[in-house]
Amino acid sequence: MPTSLIILAAGQGTRMNSDQPKVLHRVAGAPMLVHAMRAGAALDPDHTIVVTGHGADAVEHAAKEYDETAKIAHQAEQLGTGHAVAQAAPLLEGYAGDAIVLYGDTPFVSEDTLARMAEARHSHDLVVLGFEAADPGRYGRLKMSGERLEKIVEFKDADEATRTITFCNSGVIAASAATLFDLIAAVGNDNAAGEYYLTDIVEIARARGLSATAIACDEAETMGINSRPELARAEAAFQTRKRAAMLEDGVTMPAPETVHFAYDTYVGRDSIIEQNVVFGPDVTIESGAHIRAFSHLEGCHVSRGAVVGPYARLRPGAELAEDTRIGNFVEVKNALIAEGAKVNHLSYIGDASLGERANIGAGTITCNYDGVMKHRTTIGARVFVGSNTMLVAPVTVGDDAMTASGSVITQDVPEGAMAVARARQITKPGLARKLFEMLRRKKNQQDQGAV
Ligand code: UD1
Ligand code: CA
Repeated sequence: MPTSLIILAAGQGTRMNSDQPKVLHRVAGAPMLVHAMRAGAALDPDHTIVVTGHGADAVEHAAKEYDETAKIAHQAEQLGTGHAVAQAAPLLEGYAGDAIVLYGDTPFVSEDTLARMAEARHSHDLVVLGFEAADPGRYGRLKMSGERLEKIVEFKDADEATRTITFCNSGVIAASAATLFDLIAAVGNDNAAGEYYLTDIVEIARARGLSATAIACDEAETMGINSRPELARAEAAFQTRKRAAMLEDGVTMPAPETVHFAYDTYVGRDSIIEQNVVFGPDVTIESGAHIRAFSHLEGCHVSRGAVVGPYARLRPGAELAEDTRIGNFVEVKNALIAEGAKVNHLSYIGDASLGERANIGAGTITCNYDGVMKHRTTIGARVFVGSNTMLVAPVTVGDDAMTASGSVITQDVPEGAMAVARARQITKPGLARKLFEMLRRKKNQQDQGAV
C-alpha cells in the first residue's frame, strides 16, 4: 500500500522549559524529529509532511536538512493533535494511499512495528499503535474489546476506572488518507483540554461502522518525550540499545556502558572501542580499527588498522587511511591522513593533507587560520616534520623532506629538502651559574627586608 507520513511537530513542549521547540532537542546527536523521520522513511513514503508551529522556521530547517523533499504544513495555532493533522489535508488532496501519523516527540518507533501496522491495515480501517505501560502516567488509554479498539480516552478526560487501564496510545495511527481527513473533520473540542484530539477519530470511526484495532509494541519504542528527565531517559534507552547492537555486530568494547554513540554511528566488526569514547554524528569506523580510551570523534572516517587515541579528537572532515596513528592530545580537522602516516603526540592538524608514512613530530601545529581566512597545509609522502614545527598555511612540504624541530615554516619546502626556520643557538659558558647566584642574593635581601 502506498503510504505518506504526517509528522506532528508544532507543539511548544511547555514541560521542556526551553526556548527551543521540543522536537529539536537532540537524542544521540539528532533532533528527536529526525529520529521520527528516519523511522518513517523505512516505509518509503510518497510524501513526508511535517506539521510545524512553534519555532516553525527552525523546525522546517531541521526537517529539510534531513530530507529536502519533506513538505511543510503550518499550524498557526496549536489547537490539538487532530487540528494539526488537518493542516496536512491540502497537501494530500486526492491522494489514494494510506497516511500514517507519527509524533515528532516519539522518536523510537521501529521499522518492524510500522511494517506490522501496515499489515494490520489489510483487515482494519484504522490501526493505532499501543503499548503496555509500566507507568501509564498521562498517556491516552486504549479501550479494547477483544481485538477491536472502541475508543481512546485522554488522561485528562479519563475517570478513575479508565485510568487503571495500562494499554496506552503511542500516537501512531494509520488509515487511508481519505478516511483519516474525513474523520478528523468531525472532531470537536469539547473536552478537558479544549483541544481537537486526534484520538477522537476512533470513536467517530466506530460510530460510522468502520473497524479499528490496536497493535502493541514494546514500550521502549513509544516513549514520548515531554520533559528533560524524559529526554535523559530516552538518551539512556537509545545508548543501551545501540551498545547491545554493536556488541552483537562484532565490536569489542571492554566497558560498553561508558561508550556514547550517535544515532548514525557505524563501526565495523573486529574493531575495538575502549572506555569513555564519545561519538558525535556522522562517524564511520571500518573493521579492525582501534579507538582508545577518552577519544572524541565526529564527522570522520577511520580505516582498517588505524589506532586513534587515547585522548584524541577527530573533528569533521578527518579522513584516516589504513594503518594510521593518531595519538594522545592530537586534534585532526578537515584533513586527509594517508596510509601509514603518524601524528602521535600533542598536535593540531587542520585543513591539511599528509602523505603516506609521513611522521609528524610532537607539538606540531598547522597554523590554518589567519584571523579571517582558512588555508591548507600539504605534506608529502615520507616527510619527517620535526617536533614543535609551526606550519604557517598556505604551505607545502614536498615528498621526503624534513623540517627541523622548533621551525616556523612560512615558505614551501621542496621535495627532499631540509628546512630550518629558527634562531641559531648561542651558548655562553658559566653565565647560568652567575645568573642563579645573582637572583638568589636578590631573594635573600628581599626576605630579610620582609622580617
Ligand atoms: C498525545 C496523545 C496521547 C498519547 C501521547 C503519546 C492526543 C490528544 N493525545 O498526548 O493519547 O498517549 O501523545 O505520547 O493526541 N502537536 C502539534 N500540534 C498541536 C498539538 C500537538 O503538532 O496542536 C504535536 C506536538 O508537537 C507533539 C505531538 O503532537 O509532537 C503530541 O502532542 P503532545 O501535546 O505532546 O500530546 P500528549 O499530551 O503527549
Ligand atoms: Ca507528548
